[in-house]
Amino acid sequence: MIHLNKETAHIVTLSDEERINRILSYKWIGYTKAREILQTMEYLLIHPKIHRMPNMLLVASTNNGKTILLNRFFEAHKPVVTPETEQLTIPVLYVQAPFKPDERMFFINILEALNAPYSVKERSLRLYQQVVSILKKVDTKILIIDEIHHILAGGYITQRVFLNMIKYLANDLQIVIIASGIRDALSAINTDKQLANRFEPAILPKWTMDEEYLRLLSSFEAILPLKNPSNLTQEDIAMKILSLSGGTIGEISTILKKAAVQAIHNKKECIDLQLLGRTGYIAPANRQKQYEGLLI
Ligand SMILES: Nc1ncnc2c1ncn2[C@@H]1O[C@H](COP(=O)(O)OP(=O)(O)OP(=O)(O)O)[C@@H](O)[C@H]1O
Ligand SMILES: [Mg+2]
Repeated sequence: MIHLNKETAHIVTLSDEERINRILSYKWIGYTKAREILQTMEYLLIHPKIHRMPNMLLVASTNNGKTILLNRFFEAHKPVVTPETEQLTIPVLYVQAPFKPDERMFFINILEALNAPYSVKERSLRLYQQVVSILKKVDTKILIIDEIHHILAGGYITQRVFLNMIKYLANDLQIVIIASGIRDALSAINTDKQLANRFEPAILPKWTMDEEYLRLLSSFEAILPLKNPSNLTQEDIAMKILSLSGGTIGEISTILKKAAVQAIHNKKECIDLQLLGRTGYIAPANRQKQYEGLLI
């Protein structure tokens, strides 16, 4: 079965139920832009401490692979305990920005991620000191802040105060900040010149009809345990998936998974144009219309 990779060629012999289970579980697919960004993160991790550390702002549409990428980096640099000294090192810490620009909530998110005890009654300054002290102790090099666009849920001044706090924290600790969010995050950070020049944007663009997209489809085909080849890179099939998905990897993945499950149910064992039209998948652009239809 040359359309499948080695591991999937084994899975394809399993029961329908087992195969569907595999399809619905998650598997990372590498692509050029993601690998480039991961490589940049690796450089940031070994960047020597200087008074003005470089930072990254990862920007992409919703459902286009930001959190997955950040988690991949985080997983590659998990906390370690040195057996001789029992010293805990947490090189990379992942947190989400709180749902509004509230520094107390932010410090609490960090303390939670560190599994550190804290008192919710503690004053903000005390929580800040606790965060700084622990991050120094565990030698954190990179703080990842996902969903940074949440700061836009506050007024201009609150946003500024929150961003100043991040700047202050980064200076205090001389760590790298990797912030991630949708495009609005870029404009929020760009309103502060000092911050804008500290954050290098890294962009995961929407998918378009090019070689990289076709490679992505081939990779999906290789990991979907179907017995017959689908030839997803054929122009009409590739175009159909792209236009249904609106160009995000999350929707591309959803469409292909739905179609693959159907291909098992109906014994076709491959994804074709006809099946793509019948998966019950509603494109993001049509979801509003669907709700409106339900409300009439
Ligand atoms: N490299 C990848 N390989 C396979 N699937 C992927 C990959 N990246 C993303 N996906 C799929 O896309 C979905 C959305 O990815 P992710 O949650 O990272 O998006 P996001 O950009 O963080 O979205 P949001 O802004 O809404 O948080 C994932 O659940 C996964 O199914
Ligand atoms: Mg996300």
